[in-house]
Amino acid sequence: MTAVRTLLAVAAESLAASGISSASVDARLLLAHAWGVNVAELQRLQLLGREPAAEVQVRFDALVEERMTRVPLQHLTGVAPFRGLELRVGPGVFVPRPETEMIVDAVLAEVAGTAAQVVDLCTGSGAIALAIKQEAPAACVAAVELDPLAHAWAVRNAEVLGLDVAIELGPAQAALPGSEGTLDVVVSNPPYIPVGMVPIDPEVRDHDPEVSLYGGSADGLRIPLEVAARAAELLRPGGLLVMEHADSQGDSLPRALARAGWSDVADHRDLAGRPRAVTARAD
Ligand SMILES: C[S@@+](CC[C@H](N)C(=O)[O-])C[C@H]1O[C@@H](n2cnc3c(N)ncnc32)[C@H](O)[C@@H]1O
Repeated sequence: MTAVRTLLAVAAESLAASGISSASVDARLLLAHAWGVNVAELQRLQLLGREPAAEVQVRFDALVEERMTRVPLQHLTGVAPFRGLELRVGPGVFVPRPETEMIVDAVLAEVAGTAAQVVDLCTGSGAIALAIKQEAPAACVAAVELDPLAHAWAVRNAEVLGLDVAIELGPAQAALPGSEGTLDVVVSNPPYIPVGMVPIDPEVRDHDPEVSLYGGSADGLRIPLEVAARAAELLRPGGLLVMEHADSQGDSLPRALARAGWSDVADHRDLAGRPRAVTARAD
């Protein structure tokens, strides 16, 4: 048996040598997963000088080796944190990102404590929709996803978390027929990477589904603008659109929305100071 500190140090060194910038954090999360405990419990066991059994170490070594091939950490642990939620993720679904959490704040500022009608277009794992329902339980939240596998992950997440969100399968461009002019908020983190701009990180390039990444045109805005066009049909007058975008689209997307007739168009930066999301109101 080997001390926790040694196991973590050796693993972090191997992960860092594979180009993983979060090597120490990843090592800790993988050891906790192999041991079947959370990170706080791992810390406690380490303080008490406990050492994992041989089979835990074997599992840990296998996980570290997989992570060294740049399989996403979240695919290995099977979960991704998003605001207060623990979402199930794996092959076939986009791993929710911390920078998307601010999108939920913009929605909550509009709907908290009300019975607002909200839809999350391009929901992936269900992250945005489920976080809104969790934090604004009086809101009536729906979600739409094109890809059948991603849709299945979202449905599973809603079931496991016990959150009442209707998750529809289909294109956002034709979402919720019959609901035109009735919604209070449309929120979306659509695919927006410019076609031809292949992400550098293997975790993204090789493991996030292509349909979740590319925006369908050289500027990456074809699908986002189609989603916004459907949002304009679904929202009531004065209803709010909240949409995430690439940091390179902080001028082009707001300009395109203003040209399309949206009011109060405003762009917002993320915690790292990068342009990250646009808000606008339907006429
Ligand atoms: C960038 S991911 C975002 C997922 C999730 N909203 C999040 O923030 O983690 C984009 C998602 O849009 C889905 N998608 C792509 N094109 C779509 C379309 N036309 N209609 C609905 N969903 C679409 C993808 O399958 C993927 O799940």
